[in-house]
Amino acid sequence: MTIQILKGNIVHAPSAGELKILENGFIVSDGGKIAGLFDVLPEKYAGAPVVDYGDALIMPSFADMHMHAPQYPMLGMGMDLPLLEWLNTYTFNTESAFADKDFARETYRALAREMIACGTTRVCAFSSLHREATLILMEEFEKAGLTGFVGKVNMDRNSGDVLTETTEESMRETLAWLDQARFDHIKPVLTPRFTPTCTNELMAFLGKLAAERNLPVQSHLSENTSEIAWVRELHPDCARYWESYAKYGLFNSRTVMAHCVHSDETERKAMRDNGVWVAHCPDSNVNLISGTAPVRKMMNEGVKVVLGSDIAGGAQLAMNRVVAAAIRASKIKRIETNWTDDFLTVAEAFYLGTTAAGAFFGATGGFATGDKLHAIVVDDADLPAPVRKLTVKERFERAIYLMTKADIAAVYSDGRRVK
Ligand code: GUN
Ligand code: FE
Repeated sequence: MTIQILKGNIVHAPSAGELKILENGFIVSDGGKIAGLFDVLPEKYAGAPVVDYGDALIMPSFADMHMHAPQYPMLGMGMDLPLLEWLNTYTFNTESAFADKDFARETYRALAREMIACGTTRVCAFSSLHREATLILMEEFEKAGLTGFVGKVNMDRNSGDVLTETTEESMRETLAWLDQARFDHIKPVLTPRFTPTCTNELMAFLGKLAAERNLPVQSHLSENTSEIAWVRELHPDCARYWESYAKYGLFNSRTVMAHCVHSDETERKAMRDNGVWVAHCPDSNVNLISGTAPVRKMMNEGVKVVLGSDIAGGAQLAMNRVVAAAIRASKIKRIETNWTDDFLTVAEAFYLGTTAAGAFFGATGGFATGDKLHAIVVDDADLPAPVRKLTVKERFERAIYLMTKADIAAVYSDGRRVK
């Protein structure tokens, strides 16, 4: 890959709360990696072609750090039950359809295209328990231009009749999947669904595998109060839910735990001390009546927070909508805490939805020199005509709340133009 230069109004958030704007600036990438941001193009790039996006906004693309690809067919449906009943009534049935490889191919191709169209280029996704469908998902993500991690789900108990595997099957299929999962941009992540659906034997196997092969791990933690009570029954030796993962080596700096809505001070401290990533899924937390996560507290305490759509608990695949949902959830938390907890600003929530996940992918944050180029170009000309000329910052904030895929003119992932 050679030199690539984009010109436009550059907006990025290198750290939480920091919003940097470079009007009519240049992003130079060399071999897919950012070589620098410039207001005047340096002499050495004089001969290189420039893609001029005019007055459009150029910002980092989104990272969806928690989502369930096989729940895409039920997006926007079945929102009348809390978590455990919702899983048994709708979710496991829907996921069971991915035993069919043709259905998986068609669904995952459409999902991958839709994610890119909406400006998501990095992902940490759950598949279903099916090995073949998981490989199909990885292939379709790869082909569409996504970067990130996909996990074959492990679930060998409490999973109903339609979607379950024996402990032996789960182990064997996981090993076979790892042998076959060879893609350039999409890598495997071990995925015990959550403590209630995994036997101790399976958890021990996965923890050992994660250590032996240096694999990341994703799961769910403290999403719902009935779930927490159930974990306490299943693991009476664990004072807190997180210990049911930690005792098997599934709770470290390469672990993404979704939700953490009801994580108390002790659990939050454990996440911080172990470097665990929290995938905050605000839209899902309201839909499944789970609660409002203490995101501001977690950030203040030094816990690493990122965002997830959690489709189809969440009904929004477009991550700018999830960013807006995170802002709204934080305001509800502020109301609930008698105006003690601060809410998230647009810049803070945007950071969580874009480059906060950087370190999980070996990147830094914002459009940092040396990082792979992950960017979207937003043409906001079709959004409501304002009463006066807006600043770039105002246009950026409005785009976060209002833009749809129709306003995203171009998408770059890992240095390649993919839309
Ligand atoms: N906990 C275990 N499985 C799931 C799932 O599919 N979605 C959500 N939101 N929580 C879960
Ligand atoms: Fe989830």
